[in-house]
Amino acid sequence: MSNDDNASVFLKDETWPELRLSELLSSDTLAGLHATIKSNWDFLRRSACQTAAGRALWKQVIHDPLAELFAGETFLRNIYEKIKKDRLNNAREISGVILAVRTLWFDSKLEAALSSHDGGGAQVVLLGAGMDARSHRLSCLKESSVFEVDFPEVLHAKATILEAAASSRDKHHHPIVTAKSLTRVAADLTEDDWLEKLETSGFEPNKSTVWILEGILYYLSQTNAMKVLKIIAEKCNLTKTVLLADFMNKQATALSSSTFLFYCDWPDELLPSLGFADVTLSQIGDPDAHFGLLQDPLNLFNKLRSLPRSIQTHPDDGTPCGRLYLLQASGSPNQMSS
Ligand SMILES: C[S@@+](CC[C@H](N)C(=O)[O-])C[C@H]1O[C@@H](n2cnc3c(N)ncnc32)[C@H](O)[C@@H]1O
Repeated sequence: MSNDDNASVFLKDETWPELRLSELLSSDTLAGLHATIKSNWDFLRRSACQTAAGRALWKQVIHDPLAELFAGETFLRNIYEKIKKDRLNNAREISGVILAVRTLWFDSKLEAALSSHDGGGAQVVLLGAGMDARSHRLSCLKESSVFEVDFPEVLHAKATILEAAASSRDKHHHPIVTAKSLTRVAADLTEDDWLEKLETSGFEPNKSTVWILEGILYYLSQTNAMKVLKIIAEKCNLTKTVLLADFMNKQATALSSSTFLFYCDWPDELLPSLGFADVTLSQIGDPDAHFGLLQDPLNLFNKLRSLPRSIQTHPDDGTPCGRLYLLQASGSPNQMSS
């Protein structure tokens, strides 16, 4: 049975795994840390744990044993209750499915990008890495130096959780780095020095690089998001570069305009204008972005895909057409000079 078949079987299944929290989460260290996150962190930083909770609860398709520890009890319970309600109501989309598809899309494109690099071993930079555990769960990174960039508090909390997991008796949660190396770079992407900090941490500007911008661009202002994209585009002049990023359209950011800032309705036109080549755009539910999780033709994502992208509101009910675009692009010195 293929992975996609597996996915559709568990979606039809009557049961969803019960939420069983690891004992580690109630240890003094982790309970205390997650209490601090809940009370002291702003929504930007907390989004790291929220994303991890989604991954932990979609464990039938994402193998990420650390996600539960990164998420903490509150986020896990919140999303679990939503999933339960959706299943009870026979909802066409189960909460968190968009996150599951997005994660699997980035995993598959990263793996393909690394296997296509001559000799492998491209460096991988995760901007706004949050509680991403790819360095611990993807064997395709075994030749790659990985750099995780995020706010200092987020990276510090992540390191604390990993230390607690490493010293626990619970082998299921023991973190093993599958990447060649992992370097955390504490930096703010809205400041001008993040690239310098990345370079002083060992990032090599002339070495092939895959950039992962997952769940980050729309938290930045238009100006800052464009600055980040231009910095990455400039790297195409130096070396083989692959960019993997998700973009919200304007209608998606309008759903929560205090949270989401940067939007782009036509990222497949924006990226070539910055110098990227081989730009491909996928929407959630497209053949390379459903993983057997979006079979119902009438679910929100499939309905959106059937409408031209220029349409701003659903013709049936006038609701905004909020879209998440998954973009892959690349660049290299040869292509820039031709
Ligand atoms: C929704 S989370 C996504 C995390 C991760 N990419 C993932 O998919 O699990 C967004 C992350 O971006 C980080 N972030 C937001 N604004 C940032 C900034 N200005 N500088 C560095 N990190 C930032 C947050 O701290 C958070 O970890």
